[in-house]
Amino acid sequence: MKVAIVGAGYVGLVTSALLASLQHVVTCIEYNPKRLRALLAGKVPFHEPGLDELVADGIYDGNLHFSGVMDPVQDADVVYLAVGTPTAPDGSTDLTFVEQAAQSLARHLRGGTTVVVKSTVPVGTGDMVEAILDAHARSSARYDVVSNPEFLREGTAIQDALNPDRIVIGSKTRRGAMTVMQLLMQIDSEVVVTDRRSAELIKYAANSFLATRISFANTMAQLCDEMGADVEAVMRGAGLDRRVGTAFFRAGLGYGGSCFPKDVTSLIHEGKRAGVSMEILEAVVSVNDELPRIYIDRLKASLGDLRGQTVAVLGLAFKADTDDVRESRGILLVRELLREGAVVRCYDPEAMEQAHLELTNCQVFYGGSAMATCQAADAVVVATDWPEFRKLDYESVHNHMRGNLLLDGRNYLDRDAITAAGLLYFGLGRNILRGPNLVSEKMVA
Ligand code: UGA
Repeated sequence: MKVAIVGAGYVGLVTSALLASLQHVVTCIEYNPKRLRALLAGKVPFHEPGLDELVADGIYDGNLHFSGVMDPVQDADVVYLAVGTPTAPDGSTDLTFVEQAAQSLARHLRGGTTVVVKSTVPVGTGDMVEAILDAHARSSARYDVVSNPEFLREGTAIQDALNPDRIVIGSKTRRGAMTVMQLLMQIDSEVVVTDRRSAELIKYAANSFLATRISFANTMAQLCDEMGADVEAVMRGAGLDRRVGTAFFRAGLGYGGSCFPKDVTSLIHEGKRAGVSMEILEAVVSVNDELPRIYIDRLKASLGDLRGQTVAVLGLAFKADTDDVRESRGILLVRELLREGAVVRCYDPEAMEQAHLELTNCQVFYGGSAMATCQAADAVVVATDWPEFRKLDYESVHNHMRGNLLLDGRNYLDRDAITAAGLLYFGLGRNILRGPNLVSEKMVA
């Protein structure tokens, strides 16, 4: 099939490369000149494992093209909208880019095309797109507007897109649903075909529920620290019940990124607008918001006043295998530490450039490696679950440091190895340091 994809952001570019790999002929349309230049030169403008190769293959095979204008939509059987949907100041979703793209589409489409909304959008956005097309289309031909939300994760995007747990297709017309099913038929997956509004809500339901699991795990972790239990054992023991499941139960600094924070906020906003109490998700957000403070309090419990104390933050990306720092907990922690007057040294294997941009005007020292960043630190906080931090030689880390406190903000480090290296390990709910008294006793020892 001939496909045009509007937007070469995360979702747009991965979808383009994936559909090209399935032998569809894809043109990815990007208005940002810098991004477009990079793509035309065969460069992927962000870090995503495997994407460079997939894009290069698509270009080499002649199935993947890039354009800075809307014209290619004229010949497309299917047009995907994969533009950004940022959060507006009032918590609602800003649909400006979707509206603009739909208007531009209306001026270019010949009719009979299936328009697929891929961006995460509030319920009813498909109706809005349809209304714009109806109002501005130059042809009297009808279009099918379909919702086909994306469930891929950054860092594992290719794998997720090729092996999704399910494909969701929401359409008012049989023809629209059938076209998208045909487009994606080589992907072996459960398919949920439903109405458009339900499809739109499925995406929010999934992300909000995953965020809820994380906040629940973080609440349990705090309980574990107070009650002398181990959150890893508790969540695993609870999660092995097949009705519960073990995924997305890892406690720590909480969720960040461009999706969970935005989507939960948007659903709260939309739910309240619809007159539904959204208390459950408000609690999810407030648990998540409080987490960095817990780590700051732990640092203070051990080090006292943080003014002038050196803290190394390892990990600035919002998760491993990405250079994306949007809503990153590491960045948030850096800001909190600076507010407390600490001297902050930081490092990330991939996200230094993005972190620089995010932290302009902040006085932060950037290390050339994880080890160099720990030099003379009174404490180290690991904020992103990069595998390389797990493999660090913690004896050497200890030797580089001035102090001996290590906070595992992702509960994924080898606690025994770290303790054996003479460091004091803290992981939320990992029951090592129970309360300020024990912390200071251990520090004295
Ligand atoms: C998330 C969803 O997982 C995808 O299914 C969805 O398609 C995507 O949002 C989206 O809406 O586009 P993503 O934000 O890339 O994907 O990353 P996740 O792996 O979900 O992680 C989100 C945050 O939760 C990260 O900060 C991660 O560190 C944190 N997390 C994750 C935890 O704190 N604990 C966990 O157990 C799992």
